[in-house]
Amino acid sequence: MKINNQNYQSIWLDESDPSVVKVIDQQKLPFFFETKELRSVDDIYCAINDMTVRGAPLIGAAGAFGIYLATLEINSLTNPRDHLANAARYLVSCRPTAVNLSWAVAYVMEKLSFDLPPEALSERARVAAIEICETEKEHCRQIGNHGLKLIEDIYQNNGEKPVNILTHCNAGWLGCIDYGTATAPIYFAHDKGIPVHVWVDETRPRNQGAKLTAWELGQYGIPYSLITDNSGGHLMQHNKVDIVIVGCDRATCTGDVANKIGTYLKALAAHDNNIPFYAALPSSSIDFSIADGLNEITVEVRNPDEVTSISGFSEGTIKSVRICPEDTIAVNYGFDITPARLITGLITEKGVCRATEKDIKKMFSDKIK
Ligand code: MRU
Repeated sequence: MKINNQNYQSIWLDESDPSVVKVIDQQKLPFFFETKELRSVDDIYCAINDMTVRGAPLIGAAGAFGIYLATLEINSLTNPRDHLANAARYLVSCRPTAVNLSWAVAYVMEKLSFDLPPEALSERARVAAIEICETEKEHCRQIGNHGLKLIEDIYQNNGEKPVNILTHCNAGWLGCIDYGTATAPIYFAHDKGIPVHVWVDETRPRNQGAKLTAWELGQYGIPYSLITDNSGGHLMQHNKVDIVIVGCDRATCTGDVANKIGTYLKALAAHDNNIPFYAALPSSSIDFSIADGLNEITVEVRNPDEVTSISGFSEGTIKSVRICPEDTIAVNYGFDITPARLITGLITEKGVCRATEKDIKKMFSDKIK
């Protein structure tokens, strides 16, 4: 993506010092565009933990680079196998819901053979982490092409009126490496001259919609309106939404989808109003080992402070203010599960399929062990 005429992806290796991983600091957007340097496994862990980086494909890539940085920490006193196994466990423990994190860490670990000298081990990890970034980028591009057809069809069937798309949270290029998952079809439709308008759910408590999706779409020149999380149902009842496209943090082999808290309510409203509801995801977000989203996906429970306070921009700085009585007890679930029966389809790098075990397994037969 281009920001101020410069091409960015959301994570990359510093060209002048390949022991440094660079990321866009998502805690500061949209108020400040800043990059951050990550130099150790701890730096990566903290960046995922405090949401400097977030979004399923991006935390996967960050975890992969975490293993690479762990290889650079090996010295004559460390046992490479133990050191890397500990780093892998530590990184994966950071956020439990998005399967991309454990998938990417395992992918890099599998490429390593511990009898190699440290430099060769690092090189293997570096190549694997970069491969993950390149593959995720390409998969998001393919998701864009497949999702574009859905938007094009709506445009043609609706008498070439602007297509109204509702999205939740940020499944954009910031949360991926580039293009985004839910946003890629939107960007591609816009590039093709199809008029689109996006309803952006603010996505409490952290407001990734208001802060990140609104910023991304604005940078690309895509018309959008920010709405409160409770507005979607009303808009759907009044024919103001043509399609819902959301991202995904973990899908089961049966098509249940974990995504940012509130996604399920959008799917229910879409179902009640006969509006197509799609989840866009690369195959790295599918957990082929589980079949029951409600019972098998761990939903992250986050700090209640995110609910009792809200952060925004005032007098040149980012400030946080409490929005409830001082001693309020709050609970903060990060994700919910949308059952497959509410999902019209999954937009993947291989095409659009129904959210059923049969279709998913057919589309990804190469991934089934
Ligand atoms: O808690 P977050 O901001 O990491 O949650 C992100 C989402 O729920 C996204 O929709 C998901 O990761 C899709 S892909 C960027």
